[in-house]
Amino acid sequence: MNKRDSEALASRLSSQGYLITDSEQSADVILINTCSVRDGAEQKALNKMRMLIGKSGQQPRKPLFGFLGCMAQAHGEKLLEEIPGLKLVLGTHCSHKLPEYLDMLLKGEREKIADCGEMDAPPVFLKDHSLLQEGSEFPLVSAFVNIMHGCDQHCTYCIVPETRGKEFSRPIADIVDECRSLAQNGVKEVTLLGQIVTSYGKRLISASPEGLSPFVQLLEEVEKIEGLERIRFTSPHPKGYGLDLVEAYSRLNKLCESAHIPLQSGSNRILKAMRRGYTTERFLEILSQLRSVRPSIGLVTDIIVGFPGETEEDFQETMNLVRTARFDNAFIFKYSPRQHTPATEMPEQVPMEIREERHARLLALVNEIAQEAYQHKVGETLDVLVEGLSRRNVNRLQGRSRCNKIVLFEGPSAWVGTIRKFRIVRAGQYSLYGEPIETEDN
Ligand code: 5AD
Ligand code: SF4
Repeated sequence: MNKRDSEALASRLSSQGYLITDSEQSADVILINTCSVRDGAEQKALNKMRMLIGKSGQQPRKPLFGFLGCMAQAHGEKLLEEIPGLKLVLGTHCSHKLPEYLDMLLKGEREKIADCGEMDAPPVFLKDHSLLQEGSEFPLVSAFVNIMHGCDQHCTYCIVPETRGKEFSRPIADIVDECRSLAQNGVKEVTLLGQIVTSYGKRLISASPEGLSPFVQLLEEVEKIEGLERIRFTSPHPKGYGLDLVEAYSRLNKLCESAHIPLQSGSNRILKAMRRGYTTERFLEILSQLRSVRPSIGLVTDIIVGFPGETEEDFQETMNLVRTARFDNAFIFKYSPRQHTPATEMPEQVPMEIREERHARLLALVNEIAQEAYQHKVGETLDVLVEGLSRRNVNRLQGRSRCNKIVLFEGPSAWVGTIRKFRIVRAGQYSLYGEPIETEDN
């Protein structure tokens, strides 16, 4: 989500005459878009900002420094006091004001600005996209599109409802227009983004006569867009994962067989304390429903270890659930206490050494299962959307399978933006190596 916000803001600034530079030394303005979900992310952004401001002391012309995003929202004006040299703090609800504020600061009309906006007001959705991939000459192949903002769920560990505010959804027609215009500009894949996409359209759009939820109605409309080949979305909430969404996978050809469904814990006791609103049994039922409509579906999840009160038995339940679910990947996080969230007040905070130790054990298990899942793909033929150069080896290209696995191969850069068939010959850690299959389409 932050990546999308950064891209939209950079593109908005470009359209106003700013040039994006890849060198911190040559920049006149340096903005850091921040995340608050865990303390580690905040510390990283603060350290980076302090380091940049410190270094700029020796430069003849000092750049203008600003913080955007969730940390700016959560700490506001206080950041201006704490970090001498910082000139701009712009929260999530008013990021569209960035060009206006930069103008004032650069002209010297204002010395410092902090604005965190009105959290109850509907946000302004930025529709700007850069049609070239970041830092490259390749055209944009896969785009992120925001469909909603905020979250009303208030899981007891999560700062997002505070930093992103209440849920607001964009009308279907607006989203479809944005996706259509991307497709007309050569984009082949869209990922629909929201903190909790299964709540999309709540209070704004009613269920269809056939009982389809607003989110599935949106998927159906995006499916109809000419030129668009693939649809993905992130993140759904298990609580709102209805049968209509499961069935959408069997009906909508463009909807790729991959799903990111956050589990958070494999212990019902902990799920309750997290206020997640589902049980592990229900979670596993969703996975088996999805696998029965699309057996090759790639499943990815998020898990937090060391939530307050998590015992070794609770943790073992998470390990067991991971063994049963056999995810293709899982993002594992050490619980991080966040300001104003109920979990920080809970007794029985788990010591950091235990959080770290559980993180390592779970990660080893996830990696082992994922490796088996990747190995299992060897010998299969997959449709791959070619995205650009491999990050590690510029002599290779990389793309993604429908089940959202990175596929690496050799080929001409003219393939970027096309969907081609590859036979998988080898599996790496979280990547696959393919050889092109010559077909009429290829
Ligand atoms: N501590 C650790 N992980 C967290 N997440 C959200 N809040 C916290 C927290 N306080 C994780 C959840 C979520 C992902 C984006 O970040 O797993 O799904
Ligand atoms: Fe945070 Fe997701 Fe829970 Fe919303 S549903 S409060 S974004 S973890």
